[in-house]
Amino acid sequence: MADSPKTTFSRRGFLKGAGVTAATTVIESANALARETKDALHSDRAVGPGSVPVKLHINGHEYSVAIEPRYTLAETLRDNLGLTGTKVVCDRGSCSACTVWIDKTPALACMTLAIDVVGRQITTIEGLSHGDTMHQVQAAFVKHDAMQCGFCTPGMVMSCAALLDRNPNPKLADVKHAVSGNLCRCGTYPKVFAATLDVAQQRRQTAGLVALVTEREA
Ligand code: FES
Ligand code: FES
Repeated sequence: MADSPKTTFSRRGFLKGAGVTAATTVIESANALARETKDALHSDRAVGPGSVPVKLHINGHEYSVAIEPRYTLAETLRDNLGLTGTKVVCDRGSCSACTVWIDKTPALACMTLAIDVVGRQITTIEGLSHGDTMHQVQAAFVKHDAMQCGFCTPGMVMSCAALLDRNPNPKLADVKHAVSGNLCRCGTYPKVFAATLDVAQQRRQTAGLVALVTEREA
């Protein structure tokens, strides 16, 4: 099989060139490099092994970051972007502590290359809350004391919140299935189940009240 043609740019080359140019030229160079990287990511061309500039959409914001193609999404979130709510425990796809959403679907950030999610919508645990207001599932975890050491908790919350978004009336078996990949060494499962079912109940009550008010106003 023929070798993939390699791109001719490198981070070192970019930095070397950028150091002797005016600021506007640096920005133009960076933009051109970002475009070239984006094109390469959508073709068979190789990128790296040095850092390449990419734009990632995370929690409704666009982040520009230079990463080596070998970086996982978990590493990029935590080490490059400071989004440390996503936990890395096993770093090999066996515990789900690093669960994030990719286009609303739970996925393991430690098993996903960051360059593979360019153009996708990423949601992390930081994206669930609104300022100081917790997401309903987070609040229910607090209410039901569904955590001990907390290492599994962000991943658990992401899995449970995704379940409730796709199934507003989950049974206990559905919750168990949704977190079947999330390992909790502290054994908080019964409280995680209770918290998730509590949120489903709260949402049904809210939906019922809204329907009642709408009916009366009609
Ligand atoms: S840290 Fe990703 S699956 Fe365990
Ligand atoms: S709360 Fe400690 S691993 Fe789950």
